[in-house]
Amino acid sequence: MDQKFSAIILAAGRGTRMKSSLPKLLHKVLGVTVLDRVICSVRDAGADDLIVVLGHDAKTISGQLADTDIRVAMQTEQLGTAHALLAALDQQPPQHDDVLVVNGDLPDLDPDQLGSLMQSHRASDAELTVSSCNVDHPTGMGRIVRSTEGTFERIVEQQDVDSSLEAICEVNLGIYSVGVSRVQPKLQEMVDGDLGGADSTNESYLTDLVEVLIEGGIPVAACPSKGQQQFLQVNDRLGLARVSRVLQDRIQTRLLTEGVTIVDPVTTWIEFDVEIGTDTVIHPQTVIRRGVKIGSHCEIGPFAHLREGTVIEDDVKVGDFVEIKDSTLEQGVRAKHLAYLGNASVGRKANIGAGAVVANYDGKVKSPTRIGSGAFIGSGSVIVAPVNIGDNATVGAGAVVPAGRDVEPGSTVIGVPARKIKRHDDSIPEICEEER
Ligand code: UD1
Ligand code: CA
Repeated sequence: MDQKFSAIILAAGRGTRMKSSLPKLLHKVLGVTVLDRVICSVRDAGADDLIVVLGHDAKTISGQLADTDIRVAMQTEQLGTAHALLAALDQQPPQHDDVLVVNGDLPDLDPDQLGSLMQSHRASDAELTVSSCNVDHPTGMGRIVRSTEGTFERIVEQQDVDSSLEAICEVNLGIYSVGVSRVQPKLQEMVDGDLGGADSTNESYLTDLVEVLIEGGIPVAACPSKGQQQFLQVNDRLGLARVSRVLQDRIQTRLLTEGVTIVDPVTTWIEFDVEIGTDTVIHPQTVIRRGVKIGSHCEIGPFAHLREGTVIEDDVKVGDFVEIKDSTLEQGVRAKHLAYLGNASVGRKANIGAGAVVANYDGKVKSPTRIGSGAFIGSGSVIVAPVNIGDNATVGAGAVVPAGRDVEPGSTVIGVPARKIKRHDDSIPEICEEER
């Protein structure tokens, strides 16, 4: 049997519960969109053919998929999850008969579990396998109804759960394996009946397919996951905050286990793909954005904000109210108070004084700045990019170094605009030739 499988991600929903002008799946969890999280998990599980169903605000999302091999199917009217799956099967026939179907609002999917679902689907004769889980709090989820013998019979959505079903704790996770050739004709019939018939409903639910297949003599299964692995979903802002918190705790647990000190995990926020070396201490109220890299024996914070593209080598100290973006701080750098460094490369052991600012943006473009090794950048100075501050140079407190006016290695500049002063004589600025 072909071990590869196709995957369809249902992402066309309106996401009305988010109360947002941004599509639900473009909201970010720790620096990554919900949709990207789902795509990554599905790929990691082994899917080599990906189809995303888009509908509501499709343009915004499809723009983000433009440079990928992911195929897009359109569900122009959001008429339910069964209708969404049918749109994918009709418009973008999957390359494999085995298809993993996942709701797009599950940013906490476990690739191993997805892989196991596909395996048990293949090992059984079921044409539709529903991934389920026993949970403490089933409210809001579709319930898995079984006969007294344990045979899977149907899924009942929350709005239809009556007192006889309230005790059921096995829920539908919104993840399914489907054998397309046998299921598609039945799906088509069901959707046509739900949406086109005399007593048509507003939506056609994928969950109703269970009963339809059973009636048609096509085997189905519900496959409970081990443990209490309930994949958190993002239906609303509460769900977004909750899943972010859970994933945040997981990231911090990994770092703590790897030998990083996080003084106060509750007030620290670390996004995905962050690397931190051993014996580095992260003080409270620090925010570290996606992909930032920090070496060993560093001290970060309190109240530091390390943004995308920041690389910090070993033995660096970044103190309170320091913001760093797209910058590299080489070994031994100190930036301990109230500084902003943007698009800067700071050499070994340079010292960035309190309140120093690298002005990287002139309103149109962002430009780079190089601060050499051993340089001393005085308090309250402004370095206007692009500019090079040479090794061991000193920029006096309050100086403004204009764009393009490189500071020579070992020299000292002071004033506004900054001018070089002669050694051993702090009082007489050496005025540039062009300024005379
Ligand atoms: C769904 C399941 C429920 C399950 C839960 C698990 C149905 C009817 N119910 O409920 O049994 O316990 O997920 O998370 O499937 N979508 C479309 N087109 C549509 C409607 C939805 O593409 O017309 C997409 C959404 O973008 C979303 C996904 O399908 O990513 C699920 O839709 P959602 O409305 O969140 O379903 P739930 O109410 O969570
Ligand atoms: Ca949902």
